[in-house]
Amino acid sequence: MTQELSVRRAGLADITAIWAIEQVSFPTPWSRWSFLAELGHGNSHILVAGPAPPLPWQTWGYLIFWVVAEEMHILNLAIHPEYRRRGIARQLLSAGLAQARELGALVAWLEVRPSNGPARALYDSFGFKEVGRRPGYYDDTHEDAILLTLEFEEEPH
Ligand SMILES: CC(C)(COP(=O)(O)OP(=O)(O)OC[C@H]1O[C@@H](n2cnc3c(N)ncnc32)[C@H](O)[C@@H]1OP(=O)(O)O)[C@@H](O)C(=O)NCCC(=O)NCCS
Repeated sequence: MTQELSVRRAGLADITAIWAIEQVSFPTPWSRWSFLAELGHGNSHILVAGPAPPLPWQTWGYLIFWVVAEEMHILNLAIHPEYRRRGIARQLLSAGLAQARELGALVAWLEVRPSNGPARALYDSFGFKEVGRRPGYYDDTHEDAILLTLEFEEEPH
C-alpha cells in the first residue's frame, strides 16, 4: 500500500461509517445497535483504519475483538470494497493481535464461513489453524462455521 495507514480506537463518531461498511460486506449485517453496544462494553475493542494525517480521516475498515480470560475472540472484520487488497485487513489484524497480546491474551479464536475464500486466505497467512466446525452456525445460509485458532508465541526473554 502506497498510502500511509493509520489505525486507532473507534469512538461514537465512527459508528455511521463502520455500519455503512458492514452493510456492503455481509449477507446478514449486524444492526447499528450491535455496534453501539460493542462500544459500551468493557471487554470489547473496536479498531478503525483510515488514511494517516495530514489527509482527512475516512474509515476504510474495522476490526472488533474481545479479550476475556487470556483469550482473544475476533467478532468482526471488514474493509470497504473500494479499499480491499491493499493490505488494510492485514494491518488491522496485526494491530489487534498485538493489542490483545499486550492485554494478556495467549490465544485468538474466530469463526469463518467455509465459502469466504478471501478471509480464509487472510487468516491462513497469519497461521490460524482449523480446530473444529460448528454445524449450521450461520442462520442465513445454514453454512457450518469453521473454528480457527492462533496460539501466540511466547515473547523472547
Ligand atoms: C476478508 C477481508 C477483510 C480482507 O480485507 P483486505 O484489506 O482486502 O485484505 P488484505 O489486502 O489485507 O489481504 C491480506 C491477505 O488476505 C488474503 N486475501 C485478501 N483478499 C483476498 C482475495 N480476494 N482472494 C484471495 N486472498 C485474499 C491474501 O492472503 C492477502 O495477502 P496478499 O495480498 O499478500 O496476497 C475483506 O475481503 C472483506 O472485508 N470481506 C468482507 C467481510 C468479511 O468477509 N470479513 C471477514 C469475516 S470472518
